[in-house]
Amino acid sequence: MKKRVGVLISGTGSNMKALVAASHAADSNYEIACVASNKADAGGIAWAREQGIATKVISHRDYIQREAFDAQLNTYLKSQNLDAIACAGFMRIMTPVLIAPWQGKMLNIHPSLLPKYKGLHTHQRAIEAGDNEAGCTVHLVTLELDDGPILAQARVPVHADDTPDTLAARVLIEEHKLYPQALKDFLITRNLG
Ligand code: GRF
Repeated sequence: MKKRVGVLISGTGSNMKALVAASHAADSNYEIACVASNKADAGGIAWAREQGIATKVISHRDYIQREAFDAQLNTYLKSQNLDAIACAGFMRIMTPVLIAPWQGKMLNIHPSLLPKYKGLHTHQRAIEAGDNEAGCTVHLVTLELDDGPILAQARVPVHADDTPDTLAARVLIEEHKLYPQALKDFLITRNLG
């Protein structure tokens, strides 16, 4: 039986699309059961809906308290009988209300070689630091931002003439390969798949 994975997005959702594409492979051990977003205009939500995937928009603007938004999202995720959650460009700082119920089952992809460059503007920071390599990391979500156990990483070179945008594009290509494989491996090794 394929494991049921929910995906959280805030924007384009190119990583979500890569996960959906990989889930259609004959040897995939998961299906994308639902896609949820905190933004109604997230491009990825319209795309997921067109694919026939269950979608949910819960606008964070409707909630004064961060915890109240997280509780609402958690209620939805619980209703979907999920085995795991993949955060994919979900641009929210999550509280324990959302993280604790899924700890050990919630993954994130971050566009840096963690533990370097937690948070935002990772590519700009790598360039400014003079790094000669950059990359992306799939990790488990814990209560500390971008801090959980690392599951997989991919590396790319930083070119002398790179801008944050050119570097981001190079890293993103690797993200789309790394995340589906890391999720598949995670579900096998954690005996969730
Ligand atoms: C990716 O670079 C991801 O690592 C970061 O935000 C970006 C989201 O891109 N967290 P997309 O929405 O998956 O296209």
